[in-house]
Amino acid sequence: MSVIKIAILGFGTVGEGVYRIIHSHAAELKKVLGKKVEVTAILIKDQEKKRNISDDILITSDFEDIMKLDKLDVVIEAIVGKESPFLFLKKSIERKCHIITANKEMFAHHGEELQKLAEKNNVSVGFEATVAGGIPVIQTIRTLLKVNRVFQLQGILNGTSNFILTEMREKKQSFTEALLQAQENGYAEADPTNDVEGFDAFYKTMILCRIAFGEEPNWEEVQRQGITSITSELIAAAEKYGLRFKHFAQINRDGSEIIAVVKPVLVNQNHPFYHVEGVQNAVNVCSDIVGCITLQGPGAGMFPTSSAVIEDLVYVCQNQLSDITNSIGFVSDDKKTQGELEYWFVQGVGWKVPKGITIVDQTVEGIFILKAAKRDLEQLKNNKEVLCYPIVGEITINNFDSVTV
Ligand SMILES: NC(=O)c1ccc[n+]([C@@H]2O[C@H](COP(=O)([O-])OP(=O)(O)OC[C@H]3O[C@@H](n4cnc5c(N)ncnc54)[C@H](OP(=O)(O)O)[C@@H]3O)[C@@H](O)[C@H]2O)c1
Repeated sequence: MSVIKIAILGFGTVGEGVYRIIHSHAAELKKVLGKKVEVTAILIKDQEKKRNISDDILITSDFEDIMKLDKLDVVIEAIVGKESPFLFLKKSIERKCHIITANKEMFAHHGEELQKLAEKNNVSVGFEATVAGGIPVIQTIRTLLKVNRVFQLQGILNGTSNFILTEMREKKQSFTEALLQAQENGYAEADPTNDVEGFDAFYKTMILCRIAFGEEPNWEEVQRQGITSITSELIAAAEKYGLRFKHFAQINRDGSEIIAVVKPVLVNQNHPFYHVEGVQNAVNVCSDIVGCITLQGPGAGMFPTSSAVIEDLVYVCQNQLSDITNSIGFVSDDKKTQGELEYWFVQGVGWKVPKGITIVDQTVEGIFILKAAKRDLEQLKNNKEVLCYPIVGEITINNFDSVTV
């Protein structure tokens, strides 16, 4: 095989970026793979749209045209939706093509099935672009941490939410104003639900669970909370303690149990996420030998995302099978049990807090820092009027020393 033939499904932000890099970095690809990489076909939806694509490439809106090609080695999927892309990739694997996807929603739902099918067909699956855009977190976990036992992952996985929180703090904007700014900058869709309600981060978190631990928690049991409850008032109150809101995903392994949460928390400047601002993403991987490694970088956009796809292209062409996971049972030292004390930032609870909970400080009228066992604090969430945000890392409170939580 002197040429690697590729089909790209989708020619939007990601598909076009991949197409452009295959041309701009043809020499590097040829050098590392020993073969020329050639785009043979592109799948789109709207035949009428004008596109900058070479004349000798098949452009089609019918996936079956691509399956009819004489020779095809790799199918790169960069479209939207869940079921059509899944079927396209299933057929591609059955045709013995390696597959690469950027589609986190599809891959969170169907990744396991695709990986099993790929293994059966002796082809590889690349999905680096599904989590944290250009940051090579999947490769880091699956190739660099083969012997280390990963016990915790933390991430800022949604650039849009992080941008909104940064704008609200820096420019003293309301949530609505910051969201509008994100939409004007092209970071948020017209319907921002997936980003601001935490669904996008949730899908990425489930993909990370599988790569790090070989399994996922029951989706129904994962706490998923977006950033829509955070107000300028809360942000200003947190700043008095040197705390910043971050939309945070965390996965812990405790023996056979995987515990995942996706929610806003507060961190101070000693936490690696404190300075992760704007549309940046970050992932903190903790494992038993190396300790914690933080990766930070652009979480979306044409070239960062395409960079992840292109690195995957090399990975799949070298035919590395996709089932390597860090799935050895391991009990995390770090996991807080229900009885351990935590500090929370809480609004709407009033002075009469339930028994067992200590008011540590009042930041401004109505916003408190509370300390109690996790199980007691969890009770507060039963009251819909009460907003609760855990503090992760350290907090300095007047008349108190720096407290590690
Ligand atoms: N944008 C990012 O920064 C980023 C980052 C990480 C992951 N992703 C993921 O990558 C995927 C692509 O994102 P994008 O931003 O490139 O999207 P996009 O700009 O909206 O482009 C989507 C492309 O897919 C084509 N398409 C959509 N549905 C199709 C279907 N059923 N059959 C054939 N073609 C179809 C569209 O065709 P037309 O051109 O004809 O409309 C378009 O070319 C998504 O799953 C997204 O979640 C995106």
